[in-house]
Amino acid sequence: MKKIAVIGSTNVDLITYGNRFAKGGETLEAESFCIGNGGKGANQAVAAAKLGSHVLMLSKVGDDQFGEMSLSNYQAQGVDTQFVEKVAGISTGVAPIFVNTETSQNSILIVKGANNCLLPSDIDHAEETLKSVDLIVLQLEVPLETVYHAIDFGQKHGIKVLLNPAPAVAELSLEYACKCDFFVPNETELEILTGKPVSTVDEIKQAASVLFEHGLKNLIVTMGSQGSLWISNEQERLTAPVKVNAIDTSGAGDAFIGCFSHFFTQTGDVQVAIEKASAFAALSVTGKGTQSSYPTAAAFNEFQKNNI
Ligand code: RIB
Repeated sequence: MKKIAVIGSTNVDLITYGNRFAKGGETLEAESFCIGNGGKGANQAVAAAKLGSHVLMLSKVGDDQFGEMSLSNYQAQGVDTQFVEKVAGISTGVAPIFVNTETSQNSILIVKGANNCLLPSDIDHAEETLKSVDLIVLQLEVPLETVYHAIDFGQKHGIKVLLNPAPAVAELSLEYACKCDFFVPNETELEILTGKPVSTVDEIKQAASVLFEHGLKNLIVTMGSQGSLWISNEQERLTAPVKVNAIDTSGAGDAFIGCFSHFFTQTGDVQVAIEKASAFAALSVTGKGTQSSYPTAAAFNEFQKNNI
């Protein structure tokens, strides 16, 4: 079976649902609250595992209740946790999330906690196991030096690397980013990283040219309800969105990446993987929470029968 390694973050999401943000100095009653398993790395790992991939996770959690909760969740979802380590004396990453129930949009704060302790030496420590994977998946909720080391590791061992530059970090080296086989930002991240406007597909293509000047092979820009745009040296391809009634978009980008990683490693076909990922992410926004909204493989198959 093909294997995916996710080198990235683990958080616990503290999600509040309400119809507007509180203003400065205001106390406002919200509608509801829930706690869930999250973190961009963890979400992507769980999405791929739910679809049946063998997923190896490299991550750090704190020695607190949230660390225990995260480890149990990985195990329940079938993610390989041999390289998920507890760090003494530091909290697990947490993400207070506010979901606007009128618009289904979210805003997210992250407190990285133990995620800051995932270091290049952790990649070296996992080398023997890690070098047998087919795809390494990265995001930016762990130190940049770790992300760069993972990209170098992938190149050294001939392993394909996907970088989801989320959350956008202006200091990200475009030299490093463009060494990856797949660079998968949303429009906002693309704007921050290239300094170019991205309000139209033409503007997105202009912004993309900055990355191709640095040698990028494949850019996949996720555009939410506008679908996605895959650009490579050979072609440009727009994939239409799958229309659904969104109630909570938190974690939809991660659903896309996890599903893309699963189908790309299974089929080697980028366009098929993008179409599956669009459908999986669309289905995820019809449920509440991040990982809690990801369908099982069976539910996803059922959805595709009726919607594609
Ligand atoms: O992309 C959604 C994720 O961002 C949440 O699960 C939260 O933990 C933050 O990492």
